[in-house]
Amino acid sequence: MPATGRVLLSVTGYDPHAWERQIASRRAVVREPDGADDPTIRYAVAWKHPRGAFSRLPNLRAIFSIGAGVDHILSDPSLPDVPIVRVVADDLTRHMSEYVVWRVLDHHRQGMLYRHRQAQGIWEEAHQPGAPMVSVGILGLGTLGRAAAAALIPLGFRLRGWSRSGTSMEGVECFAGKDGLTAFLAETDILVVLLPHTAETEGIVDYRLLSGLRRDNALGGPCLVNAGRGMLQKEADILRALDEGILKEASLDVFETEPLPASSTLWTHPRVFVTPHAAAASDASELVPAMLDQMDAHDRGEPLRNVVDRQAGY
Ligand code: NDP
Ligand code: OXD
Repeated sequence: MPATGRVLLSVTGYDPHAWERQIASRRAVVREPDGADDPTIRYAVAWKHPRGAFSRLPNLRAIFSIGAGVDHILSDPSLPDVPIVRVVADDLTRHMSEYVVWRVLDHHRQGMLYRHRQAQGIWEEAHQPGAPMVSVGILGLGTLGRAAAAALIPLGFRLRGWSRSGTSMEGVECFAGKDGLTAFLAETDILVVLLPHTAETEGIVDYRLLSGLRRDNALGGPCLVNAGRGMLQKEADILRALDEGILKEASLDVFETEPLPASSTLWTHPRVFVTPHAAAASDASELVPAMLDQMDAHDRGEPLRNVVDRQAGY
């Protein structure tokens, strides 16, 4: 017997069929733009929905984000006052940890330099400091930041973390808030950005922040890895920092405008590695069963988990 209460599916940028199939295994699905004023719709599942898509659902009880980030939902000025549930899932977390370990190791083991040397047929060994000589600083020590730190610690890197609350983690030197940022940056060699995009974090990765990283380090300069959100970074500042030698290299998964415009210098910069917002994609078969379980539990009167703090914006 299918659960009562239909689900509105509104996804842009993901193939909606996989999500629809998974949801339809247990609940009736309506694909946006259909569904306006439909009193039988109780839940919405969303990724980059058109603004206003949820404002005409009289019995909507909660919105489930297809991603861990919810800026794509909160930026809708006509968002109804219902709980927003974000993704917290082992599969997504594992993918992000893989991405972070991959990029950190590539910067640490001079991948960009060796690819350049290979293209030129140069057989020359580069100086290779050990991992304990290198510190990795993670901006955002939440679900993804903590898991990435836990994956890097056994490799020998020195871990630092920055958060809003100053959350602690064994094996990680922790810093908090604006006051802690300068000290956090001053001894960071590889900066990993895993913050949400909020009013407070927008544009945080700018020239000033990059200038605060440790320049005189074992790698020959600081490196940046951003897998949080493109709106956290100022791309003109990253390019300036690279060109002035303030930043050695960058791995960017997210961009101010996505897809990254063909005209962007980031595509061809010799010390920038670009991936298309692919660090940890959401997989319908992994994520939908947990969403449906939450809808069922909520219908039984149980509280929702992983509800976003709308005030904080994440
Ligand atoms: P969490 O909410 O679990 O963690 C967010 C972290 O950021 C927390 O440590 C929080 O601090 C910190 N933070 C938030 N605001 C501030 C601030 N103003 N100053 C300092 N620290 C701050 O999120 P997740 O770890 O699950 O995800 C992080 C982000 O990763 C998502 O929001 C999304 O944008 C991005 N993402 C990108 C993907 C990709 O494929 N590129 C895939 C999945 C997610 P505190 O601990 O004190 O609350
Ligand atoms: C997310 C994302 O927020 O994929 O999960 O970016």
